[in-house]
Amino acid sequence: MKRHEGKTMLVTGAAGAIGFATCEILAREGARVMLVDIDQPKLEQRVVQLQAAGHDALGFHADCADEGQVRAYAEAAHGAFGHVDGFFNNAGIEGTLAPTHEYPVAEFDHVLHVNLRGMFLGLRYVLPGMARRGKGAVVNTASIGSERGLAGACAYNAAKHGVVGLTRTAASEVAQKGVRVNCVEPGVIETPLLVGMLEQMFDNVEAGMKKLGEVATLNRVGQPEEVGQVVSFLLSDEASYVNGARWEIDGGALATIRNDI
Ligand SMILES: NC(=O)c1ccc[n+]([C@@H]2O[C@H](COP(=O)([O-])OP(=O)(O)OC[C@H]3O[C@@H](n4cnc5c(N)ncnc54)[C@H](O)[C@@H]3O)[C@@H](O)[C@H]2O)c1
Repeated sequence: MKRHEGKTMLVTGAAGAIGFATCEILAREGARVMLVDIDQPKLEQRVVQLQAAGHDALGFHADCADEGQVRAYAEAAHGAFGHVDGFFNNAGIEGTLAPTHEYPVAEFDHVLHVNLRGMFLGLRYVLPGMARRGKGAVVNTASIGSERGLAGACAYNAAKHGVVGLTRTAASEVAQKGVRVNCVEPGVIETPLLVGMLEQMFDNVEAGMKKLGEVATLNRVGQPEEVGQVVSFLLSDEASYVNGARWEIDGGALATIRNDI
């Protein structure tokens, strides 16, 4: 019996690196998956990719920061599946990097809109179905930036700190209704979002990635699949006593100050 056999999963930011790697893992483990993303061509491509591999997958094009569209994807998932067993609330953007005292105000609003309000909206419209059914699991994507200040990323870091607050609050509210809410805190993971940040931080992206990888005790950056495996566990019944938690997936970066480099 596969871990997610017969389960239904909803994933946002599903056309992106971490989202799609997670969709592949969930599908391989037997789940039917609905992929949600704002990037329609990439979304369609990803759905076809899963279907071609023999998986039960469908896509829904939506902006996760737009209330009407979030309500629509939650309804579409219920319509297609009858219920949602697992929700990976993951869509996010890196935003512009600039010192706090120079940060463009409109960009601050935009990053908070997508990375924090979008997460809230996902919870707002997916949790009711789970609570009514008395069963479900949610994983929100926070970040290493939920725990530390990354210079230049005031908007991203503020939003990701907020995701932990949302996670803990929702976890306390729906636990008695049979629903668990946790978050993952990826460290430096090799994805387009990371490259977008590195391009703003370093002249040479590859050298920058190597440098950031050295922050981890494992001395390397992480791969999207390494996040997806933890998400899959947290969405499974094997994680039945895990609630309101933050799971660091950062190669040990938050655990220590490296004194060997
Ligand atoms: N890559 C890292 O190092 C890292 C570290 C910590 C946290 N994260 C978080 O992981 C999550 C996934 O990022 P990723 O690294 O896979 O990047 P990615 O750019 O590959 O994927 C992000 C996906 O989200 C989608 N998206 C963006 N805004 C959206 C919106 N308004 N509505 C719907 N979809 C939207 C994009 O189209 C994209 O497909 C994000 O929340 C990010 O903040 C990433």
